[in-house]
Amino acid sequence: MNDYLLVNGGRPLKGELIVSGSKNGGLYAIAAALLTASPVTIHNIPEIADVLEMAAVCRSIGSQVEIDGNTIQIHTPAILSNSPPNDLVAALRASFLVMGPLLARTGEAICASPGGDVIGVRPLDVHLAGFRALGAEITQEESSWVAKAKSLTGDRIFLDYPSVLGTVNVMFAATLSIGTTTIINAAAEPEVAMVAEMLNQMGANINGHGTSLINITGVKELHGVEFEVKPDRIETGTYLLAGVATGGDISIINGQPKELDSLLSKFNEMGVKVEIFSSMEGIRVSALKTFHGIALQAVPYPGFPTDLHAPMAATLTQAIGVSTIHERVFDNRTAYVSQLRQLGAKIIDGGQTVIIDGGVPLIGTSVRALDIRAGAAVVIGGLAATGTTKIFDIEHLDRGYAHLTERLVNLGADVKRCKEHIIGD
Ligand code: EPU
Repeated sequence: MNDYLLVNGGRPLKGELIVSGSKNGGLYAIAAALLTASPVTIHNIPEIADVLEMAAVCRSIGSQVEIDGNTIQIHTPAILSNSPPNDLVAALRASFLVMGPLLARTGEAICASPGGDVIGVRPLDVHLAGFRALGAEITQEESSWVAKAKSLTGDRIFLDYPSVLGTVNVMFAATLSIGTTTIINAAAEPEVAMVAEMLNQMGANINGHGTSLINITGVKELHGVEFEVKPDRIETGTYLLAGVATGGDISIINGQPKELDSLLSKFNEMGVKVEIFSSMEGIRVSALKTFHGIALQAVPYPGFPTDLHAPMAATLTQAIGVSTIHERVFDNRTAYVSQLRQLGAKIIDGGQTVIIDGGVPLIGTSVRALDIRAGAAVVIGGLAATGTTKIFDIEHLDRGYAHLTERLVNLGADVKRCKEHIIGD
């Protein structure tokens, strides 16, 4: 029996929302806790499936993990295994973040290529080149990567691409290495900066995080910390886009506008009214049913986030005029297009570029959530459509959006989570 979402669309979303802690930032914080033998407490962890999967990965290498609502406690007094099982690693991309801590703490890490959304090739060369530069020997045994080092020594490391997880993994290993590491062309995403801040609170010596040049001076050991994950900027963006698509009026109380300049500037171009409130922390969007098409490129931070590409495309199906979205981060981000077409959208998948002829009314039908953000796109499509939309494969949405149904209902949507009865079940 699988769950599906039933959306009766055509109602403007209205109201206020406090979004959860960052999905990706929370996962990096959990992995960072593996760098110390002392207990770590992390607050504001989102209640999503990926957190449970990451906890299982940590337990498999010897961590004691307790989750109580939005708080997770991780204690890894000793690493009992430096090789998490393949089936756990396959559940999510962030599982590969155990490599840096395992290598730094035990001198050896073994991990299969991780799973996660099917949104492109997603190689690991940036992670592995970084470990090599710190002195690790990398080999491949069967389906796993093996990194071994008697000791790790800081170096100047240029990343071929500012990979987010690659930057975090290399930063983890460098934190406990000898001497200073400089990461050039580092990812500047706020979640990378957040976890660097957490590591500093654990006794690390990192600066430059939040920019493309990060300096890490290694320390002997890290201590425990109590840390709070920052709000999820992608969740914020998703609800704002749902508000705009439905001609609604939405306020995200903890919206962190400084991390969403790229989205807010696109809202201005579209003719959507944006207000920043509550000591500059909150974001309100109010949209008339008419807003305009735009051109945008999804690029690394501070550019427009690839994770908001699909939700933005869904919203632009309701804009007046033609829009284009050029995806420059992943090479398979556009699978969602087929699902928006099912809803009647005039949208063409040109590989890395999507062209949308907006302003066409959407009509409810059955669609699939193909990955986390493709799922968000069909939710927005269903909310903007007339009639009933059934969304299948919502386990992808459960990986990234906490309390989705409840939050949408609170904003005035007519959404229900239902059980799918499969013949023979
Ligand atoms: N890349 C390489 N070599 C590497 C690693 C990446 O060439 O070693 C390339 C990828 O092929 C891709 C690009 O770099 O074309 C970007 O990948 P990146 O490594 O930056 O992405 P990631 O770290 O695997 C994280 C988030 C994604 C988010 C991206 C970009 C997690 C668990 N995932 O992935 O989040 O889209 O950064 O911001 O943190 C999501 O939340 O839905 C999601 C997919």
